Amino acid sequence: KRYFALIPAAGVGARMAASSPKQYLPLNGVPMLQHTLEAFRRSALIAHTYVVVSAADGYIDSVAPEGGVTVLRCGGATRMDSILNGLRAIRAEVRDDDMVLVHDAARPGLTPALIAKLISAVGEHEGGGLLALPVVDTVKSTRSGALETTPRDGLWLAQTPQMFSYALLLRALALAPDPNAITDDASAVEMLGFSPKLVEGHPRNLKVTLPTDIAIAEMYLGQDSK
Ligand code: C5P
Repeated sequence: KRYFALIPAAGVGARMAASSPKQYLPLNGVPMLQHTLEAFRRSALIAHTYVVVSAADGYIDSVAPEGGVTVLRCGGATRMDSILNGLRAIRAEVRDDDMVLVHDAARPGLTPALIAKLISAVGEHEGGGLLALPVVDTVKSTRSGALETTPRDGLWLAQTPQMFSYALLLRALALAPDPNAITDDASAVEMLGFSPKLVEGHPRNLKVTLPTDIAIAEMYLGQDSK
């Protein structure tokens, strides 16, 4: 099998409230996206990496995607649109049964070891799979108006990479009803009746979302990783 990485990096990072888009914020002096790309560059299992940025992106060239990375300037209005546009853009370069690992630019703590763990644990599972973390906190919901508690048992937090065959992922995202309701790729695949495999990830693979996440990401990035 061949494994390709597709990295949506066309967001504006509104919750970060910073001057540059969050995927370019420096972490230990290096733009976030560069750390993210590095995990795939160092993985011997990845055939090629594609990164999706917005057409107006003025930063990507300085992140020096030298060798091994193709920049696709086809970002869309939502994460799902960016991924769908990216999948369509690489149509001629991949086969239906090639595996695509979708990974958020905003998760710079990914390591080659986690990529290898996902690929080996998912194996030939037809619904693909994703890294995820068991929930450690008790979960409270105010969704219905009245406060409710959901037992944390059996609850997981979805991370990325999320890996599916090219054909399945394209079909799932193309059929998904509402791009805004799709915050990860697995949920679109689940809507087709598949059950993606959950593979335990690692806290260092956190999504950098809020300003307080930066110091945590920098701490993990300062550690040796394989
Ligand atoms: O905003 P959030 O952190 O949930 O975004 C997840 C990932 O999706 C980020 O890497 C972001 O750059 C990407 N994204 C995108 N196109 C959008 C919105 C988000 O590629 N329109």
